[in-house]
Amino acid sequence: MAEAFGPKRHSRSVWQLRPGSPVADLCLVIRSEGETVGSLRFWEVMLGAQRILLLGPLAVRPGERGRGFGRDLITAALDRAKGGPWSLVLVSGEVDYYPKFGFVPAAPHGLDWPGFIEPERLQFFELQDGALAALPPGPLAVRALPG
Ligand SMILES: CC(C)(COP(=O)(O)OP(=O)(O)OC[C@H]1O[C@@H](n2cnc3c(N)ncnc32)[C@H](O)[C@@H]1OP(=O)(O)O)[C@@H](O)C(=O)NCCC(=O)NCCS
Repeated sequence: MAEAFGPKRHSRSVWQLRPGSPVADLCLVIRSEGETVGSLRFWEVMLGAQRILLLGPLAVRPGERGRGFGRDLITAALDRAKGGPWSLVLVSGEVDYYPKFGFVPAAPHGLDWPGFIEPERLQFFELQDGALAALPPGPLAVRALPG
């Protein structure tokens, strides 16, 4: 992770949303010759009054990028997440990357993010059809799980 995001990665606003443990069933890694070449984790967060998934961090080792590992991690994790209790996944990430997997801009929903964020980085993925249409009007606070 330090290799992908740099030593100051924990000072980014998204880390305020990850005080506890990640969702164990959705922690995926890809290994090659005993080395981890890619990993993906999710945390649960509150979106207004509902519990949703926050995707990330996702990282593929620099020398292994462009070989489909990121795609494999995301598609496997989203398929698995569809079997869970969540209706939405939120990501704060690469603007041009996540739409490939069905993510859409979150800006129209007026998210209240804890700290600085470029709004275009926030994107949603529906695990259940109609989840976005069912959201109450914004602003909707994104916060760490209570307690
Ligand atoms: C972003 C990252 C996870 C992509 O992993 P990867 O294994 O290289 O991605 P894949 O090979 O699975 O690429 C899948 C597709 O996305 C494209 N893509 C890769 N990185 C991209 C990026 N940063 N922006 C837009 N598209 C990207 C690929 O060209 C490929 O497109 P195609 O389906 O048309 O061929 C990797 O570059 C990385 O670890 N970056 C540093 C950390 C980071 O930025 N994480 C994500 C933000 S939270």
